[in-house]
Amino acid sequence: MTTTETTGTTTGRPTVLVTGSTSGIGAATARVLAAAGWHVVVTGRDALRGKGVVEEVEAAGGRAAFAPSDLSASPEELREFARAAVEAAGGRLDALVHNAAVCPAVGTPDLSDADLETALAVNVRAPHVLTAALVPAMAERGRGAVVVVGSWMAHVGHPFAGLYAATKAAEVQLGRSWAAEFGPRGVRVNTVSPGATRTPVNDAAADVVEAMTAGTAGGRPGRPEEVAAAVAWLLSEESAYVHGAEIAVDGGIVTTRTA
Ligand code: NAI
Repeated sequence: MTTTETTGTTTGRPTVLVTGSTSGIGAATARVLAAAGWHVVVTGRDALRGKGVVEEVEAAGGRAAFAPSDLSASPEELREFARAAVEAAGGRLDALVHNAAVCPAVGTPDLSDADLETALAVNVRAPHVLTAALVPAMAERGRGAVVVVGSWMAHVGHPFAGLYAATKAAEVQLGRSWAAEFGPRGVRVNTVSPGATRTPVNDAAADVVEAMTAGTAGGRPGRPEEVAAAVAWLLSEESAYVHGAEIAVDGGIVTTRTA
């Protein structure tokens, strides 16, 4: 088993909360972590999809539980969710993956006030509040791990996802700051930044994703499982000396251009 040596709770497995794990990269991360021996708390707004992910994990011999969340909710409601997630984990969380995000893909003049508020809330406020609610207990135990899911877009200007890219840059920077803040107390914090990856969020724009990746070293869109593998490594003891890193799983979209 490549998970941390810390063992959590009723299941005797280390426990992890993966936000936004009812679809896409989050669901793949839930499956990959469960296969590596973690008890995964799956969360999202859609209980039906969440239960589907739990069933998939259990059918493959893993352990998972579903706890519903709306990450655009108020800080107090987020803290309530944090308590529910600990309960769903059997009393303690050993790790946290900040994966959920929304990406309003419109130009700056067309972004509605509601979408502006939601993107800031889900992509920045929620990770901040959940870290504040959950990581101190890990630090008290002297052991834990957090992974932030960033984005290649945190590193480039983008003509129709400016706010999203800015929220991702904020998350990446929070990851570095949390590494400095909690690393000395045994909680490693790192970031995985995916490139253009085929998930439900961009299903309708498959051709755009293909075009974006065509001239890169990878030459194709990413797969959710490829991102999940990096998350699993960063939560494992194999990465014990990795703090405050950002690992690009992006086919070279930021650093290479072949055409
Ligand atoms: P997705 O839309 O399939 O998944 C996003 C997840 O966040 C979903 O489970 C959704 O339910 C959840 N979520 C959204 N709003 C929520 C809310 N208010 N409350 C609770 N949960 C909420 O997207 P995908 O592609 O799997 O994205 C996962 C992560 O990867 C995100 O952080 C995204 O920024 C990042 N990413 C994705 C890329 C891609 O090309 N798909 C590229 C770079 C980064």
